[in-house]
Amino acid sequence: MEIFKEVEPIRAFLDFKRRNSVNSIGLVPTMGALHKGHLELIKSSKKENDLTIATVYVNPTQFNNPSDLAKYPRTFEQDVALLNQAGCDILFFPSNEVMYSAANPIKIDFGGLDKILEGKFRPGHFSGVGLVVSKLFNIIQPTKAYFGQKDYQQFQVISSLVEQLMFPVKLECVPTVREEDGLAMSSRNLRLAPEMRLKALTLYNSLQLAKNLLLDGIEMTIVREKTINFFEENQVKLEYIELADRKNLISLNFVLDPKDSILLISGYVGEVRLIDNIFLV
Ligand code: PAF
Repeated sequence: MEIFKEVEPIRAFLDFKRRNSVNSIGLVPTMGALHKGHLELIKSSKKENDLTIATVYVNPTQFNNPSDLAKYPRTFEQDVALLNQAGCDILFFPSNEVMYSAANPIKIDFGGLDKILEGKFRPGHFSGVGLVVSKLFNIIQPTKAYFGQKDYQQFQVISSLVEQLMFPVKLECVPTVREEDGLAMSSRNLRLAPEMRLKALTLYNSLQLAKNLLLDGIEMTIVREKTINFFEENQVKLEYIELADRKNLISLNFVLDPKDSILLISGYVGEVRLIDNIFLV
């Protein structure tokens, strides 16, 4: 695997490849601390493209909480080993100086989609995501880019970015990979002490419970109350549980059509913030 840290060398390398029979480039943007979920993204990209590029960059502009940024797991050597094993062709691993030359980076307003759910609890988060993903699209110019369903709202925000700024890239949303007991794989799971790891399952269990109640016709107001109680019993802090339309993420109180619905949840297990979501069918 080739590793690049600067913009010009990777651009020159990719230009050369494009002129020499590489027709499609798959991009897998990550913040490192790689797990099986990321490796699924690499696998999908390898199946569908001539060349696969992973990026590892902990993007400061998408963190609204400095301690979350400081404590974000960094496991670079292990990431390189995993990417090599997975057959990734190129790794882009830039520094903050390479990615942010301006002291006041521009902000992106998505006009609503970025203010609900995650956006309500992490102000500015999606502006930072949109900014760094735009930079990566401009540097790499991928044919396809791969994102995990666990960050479903992020996928919708990036879809809006691609549509509005006319990036010539096709986006793929790859299903969440879970541990055997159902916990969604996440880099943040590395921060969970063993007793917290058990409590973390409260999110997935609540989603399953809520799904069954909703499909029985129970309204979301009641489901939310039950979830609040379930979280209290498990001593985990619930931030939100929402039933929403899959396309625009507008909140719903009832399931209209299970095919069009998604359940999203977020909470704090100790000081670690976790999110998850499931489709209703
Ligand atoms: O999903 C992530 O890991 C990040 O938000 C992304 C897309 C790599 C942007 O920093």
